[in-house]
Amino acid sequence: MKENNTPKTIRLSEYQAPNYLIDTVHLDVRIYEHYTDVISHLAVRANPDVPTASGQPLELVGVELELLGIEQDGATLALDHFRIDGEVLTIKDVPDQFTLLIMTRIHPKQNTSLEGLYVSKGMYCTQCEAEGFRKITYYLDRPDVMSRFTTRVEAPKQAYPVLLSNGNPVERGDLDDGRHYVIWEDPFKKPCYLFALVAGDLSVVEDHFTTSSGRDVLLQLYVEPHDLDKCEHAMDSLKRSMAWDEEVYGREYDLDIYMIVAVSHFNMGAMENKGLNIFNTSCVLANAKTTTDMGFQRVESVIAHEYFHNWSGNRVTCRDWFQLSLKEGFTVFRDQQFSADMGSETVNRIDDVNMLKTVQFAEDSGPMSHPVRPDSYIEINNFYTTTVYEKGAEVVRMIHRLMGKDGFRKGSDLYFERHDGQAVTCDDFVQAMEDANGVDLTLFRRWYSQAGTPHLKVTSEYVSDQNQFSITFEQTTLPTPGQPEKLPLHIPVAIGLLGADGKDLALQLSDGTVLDPLNPVLELKQAKQTFRFNGIKEQPVASVLRGFSAPVKLFYEQERAELAFLMSHDSDGFNRWNASQRLTVEVLLDLMSAYQEQKPLYVDSLLLESFRALLADESLDQAMVAKMLELPTEQFLAELLPKPVQVDAIHHAREGLKRELACGLRQELQQVINRCHMDPEYHYNVDAVAKRSLRNVCLAYVMTLADDEATELCLSQYREAGNMTDQLAAFRALAHSERSEKTQVIADFYQQWSSEALVVDQWFMVQASSPQPDALDNVQALMQHEAFEMTSPNKIRALIGAFCNNNPVNFHRLDGAGYAFLADQIIALNNINPQVASRMSTILTRWANYDRVRADLIKAQLTRIKAEKLSPDVYEIVSKALNQ
Ligand code: TRP
Ligand code: ZN
Repeated sequence: MKENNTPKTIRLSEYQAPNYLIDTVHLDVRIYEHYTDVISHLAVRANPDVPTASGQPLELVGVELELLGIEQDGATLALDHFRIDGEVLTIKDVPDQFTLLIMTRIHPKQNTSLEGLYVSKGMYCTQCEAEGFRKITYYLDRPDVMSRFTTRVEAPKQAYPVLLSNGNPVERGDLDDGRHYVIWEDPFKKPCYLFALVAGDLSVVEDHFTTSSGRDVLLQLYVEPHDLDKCEHAMDSLKRSMAWDEEVYGREYDLDIYMIVAVSHFNMGAMENKGLNIFNTSCVLANAKTTTDMGFQRVESVIAHEYFHNWSGNRVTCRDWFQLSLKEGFTVFRDQQFSADMGSETVNRIDDVNMLKTVQFAEDSGPMSHPVRPDSYIEINNFYTTTVYEKGAEVVRMIHRLMGKDGFRKGSDLYFERHDGQAVTCDDFVQAMEDANGVDLTLFRRWYSQAGTPHLKVTSEYVSDQNQFSITFEQTTLPTPGQPEKLPLHIPVAIGLLGADGKDLALQLSDGTVLDPLNPVLELKQAKQTFRFNGIKEQPVASVLRGFSAPVKLFYEQERAELAFLMSHDSDGFNRWNASQRLTVEVLLDLMSAYQEQKPLYVDSLLLESFRALLADESLDQAMVAKMLELPTEQFLAELLPKPVQVDAIHHAREGLKRELACGLRQELQQVINRCHMDPEYHYNVDAVAKRSLRNVCLAYVMTLADDEATELCLSQYREAGNMTDQLAAFRALAHSERSEKTQVIADFYQQWSSEALVVDQWFMVQASSPQPDALDNVQALMQHEAFEMTSPNKIRALIGAFCNNNPVNFHRLDGAGYAFLADQIIALNNINPQVASRMSTILTRWANYDRVRADLIKAQLTRIKAEKLSPDVYEIVSKALNQ
């Protein structure tokens, strides 16, 4: 663990180019039973772009390394020529060009941080982004130092028959004592965060891809032998990603081999190491028996994401970590486009926006709020955030909308061509878009530097005798830490006006501008702006922010009847869904008041009848119907509704609404369940996924009634399901109910799946998110379960994370037991895995959103954590949480 009582703040404004560059790296990694020796041979030279570089001492960084020796230009370096001060190895009096040989010893088997070189289920693997390479050897561990790597890996042959690193294998051989080695050469210059190494006993699935220029690429997927039956979907997704990037972005793969390795213990989803991606098993393994439709989707999008990084991230990389969104925001946008093309564009958009509004908006209104390009950080690992990733993707999406499809492609072509092989900034990306399109995005750049979610207040007026509809936008952004004053942003607002027949009206502004009927967008650039549409012969219904064209909070009062109208007529699928959500929220607000006033719950018949119509209409997109029937989550409502969060009212209103709808629509729900019958064979395609999701939404509604008939329905689906999507849906419905049958089902599910780690994760997750009052007791008991491991991030997310994030009523128990439980786990994890500990601690940063009692309880836990000896990761979150 890094100990740090006064951790240093790193600032973008203090960026300096490196004094030294490293042209080539020869790594020799020798794996032994109890330790690993790393011999690093570097060709170093003073940076010609830094006039003062010559004669400066060389400062390399290393963490938890045992230095065995250093040679400079072939001669052992005398003790008075270098010094180690904490994490910095300083070598003075170096010439302008020289070689260094550094020998270090590390202990991967003791490395539970899952950063640097570590062991997961007997397999050696690495995670170097952002700053993990310094845990392998002393180096210039910064992304603007790009080098050519050659890696020799040596290990016992029987235990580690597979030895991998970046690039192409160029030599292999056997050694004495049952050891062997492989040498890998990566022809592309790269920053060390893209370095990777794997040694293990793995099985491989192979395939080939022929690039558009006719080159053959060998595709390899390395997994544990018992997972060989879960590789097909990932391989298929990879080939589709490769073809898509050629077609949509003109980007071809550049090495002869592309390898993916599945690892159980992994801090995040996956990592785009050059030619050797390392994946969390949860983001690569999939088959019908063990994986839900959501799991299949996730695999497809993460495979695509990491593949797309080969251009957006690897060929063109980041100058410094403040520019993280340059690669992440752009790559998330690219994987979102890909998923939309592979499936339903609207359903994908709905899921992405839901997540943005639930998680990113919450982050952006709390003490960790930061711009897409942060100005400062203590620990960079804390900035792999939904703001950098998802809001970053929204910013790129807005550029796409403003430039249009072809203009965006011109911009991305210029960006890749101009910066190939370079480490650049977010500004370089915007500049390429400007230069390729001859536009000025000066004002737009504020999206990168200004934190917080803009509030967009909309009012409108129809003047019938002038046939004019006017709409006024007022944008404001609340202060965020370090940014008390906010400026107006350049906001693209996609818009439509619906006539009484539900069709879109032609849009002409009073100045004569005719909006593009295929992409009608108003561009806001001032704090307050009014647009007048002429020739509007009837009172229209406005559909504002179609496709969620900007990451803002929209405040526009529309009648319930108007929402119901948009829900059935809007030509924009996203806004049709959004109207149904807004109507649902209105009804939930009725129910929350009723709950608080202890009055009987009454459900507006407008909603009931709209849902009845949805259920009956087989001509509608069934995936959309399922989405519209899904009530907003409690977390979404907590973020959306006024503060303090009404934890209990939200929960009871939502549960009450589910029951009322189930009661009122029982027959229709049952009919849909019958119509969407389970298929004996599993197919992963848009229609099959839609059918399962609709069936299972309906099943969950029916089971809220928990009568014998509903229970029997769930039990039979649980038993007969031929795939995990249907089985898990039935399992969840039973496990979350009050029925006594659940005890047996919970035991049975574990027995059936105990050998499938990823299914066991689902089993933990379902129990952790149960609304029943014994949830916390169960979670605490499950911490002792044979399948739970405190060193496995997947297990921690499945049990602790699911309880704290997805179970608001139980986590926010008024006795504070949920908070104390989380604090205990953070304190324990701080020593085991600071990255995961710090992620868990972000949950506690939201205390200001809660009532006095809860806020005080949360703060008390933060104070308790702060008193511990903390990693910089947890320290940054906890101290920012307490100082808001
Ligand atoms: N670059 C990785 C991605 O795009 C992110 C990542 C994976 C990561 N593992 C990490 C970041 C560990 C920090 C630490 O998805
Ligand atoms: Zn990424």
